[in-house]
Amino acid sequence: MNVVVTKSYDESCTYVADMICKLVNEKPNCKLGLATGGTPVPMYKKLIEANKAGKVSFKDVHTVNLDEYCGIPGTHDQSYRYFMNTNLFDHIDIDKANTFVANGMGDFEANAAELEAKVREGGVADLQLLGIGNNGHIAFNEAADVLHATAHTETLTESTINANARFFEKKEDVPTTAITMGMGDILAAKCVVLIATGAAKENAIRGLIMDDVITTHNPSSMLKMHENVYVVIDEELANLVGYKA
Ligand code: PGA
Repeated sequence: MNVVVTKSYDESCTYVADMICKLVNEKPNCKLGLATGGTPVPMYKKLIEANKAGKVSFKDVHTVNLDEYCGIPGTHDQSYRYFMNTNLFDHIDIDKANTFVANGMGDFEANAAELEAKVREGGVADLQLLGIGNNGHIAFNEAADVLHATAHTETLTESTINANARFFEKKEDVPTTAITMGMGDILAAKCVVLIATGAAKENAIRGLIMDDVITTHNPSSMLKMHENVYVVIDEELANLVGYKA
């Protein structure tokens, strides 16, 4: 595992944006696995700036997103389709037909099967971007006794609902289920890049980078089984978990 410690969260976002731009410039028709949540937003802004400055073009890039809430349509301002459009796709030269976010409406089983197929369609992701939940979840694979290998519907934990309530008017509005890639889908990517910041992520990151233990109770710890993982954190978080480069 490659642990990258930067001076600041902004520098972490620059580091990851540069990695993505380098990949896209080397392989213009690459496939990116993308993530939502608060953490990647400034990184997406840097991709938009790079695109507008002519430093990178996404016109042949394909993307697949990690997850989507069940029960809200892609037009809902808290859906992950809406998030991706407004935080990235609307502002870059990507062909939206080449972007996939699972459908959160209708037949959830069928929608999960469609996501599973998209993960491998045309080959696996060249790079999978990840955030991490306070409980160590990656995508919506929640800490539990068992994890799932493939795309499925997941019941969100209290911890995740509480963490995501900040985006909704009230906690009761947070969907309680989501369609998510499974652990095998994430581990199938050629390269995995996880970005984290803030004290709320301390325990999850400690379990990811400070020992050799793999546990379903910190799903991110399964990334230890992947050969090509980058965990990008700032000095403040590295100090909190006691990580020394
Ligand atoms: P956050 O979410 O970036 O909003 O902290 C990360 C996650 O839940 O995976």
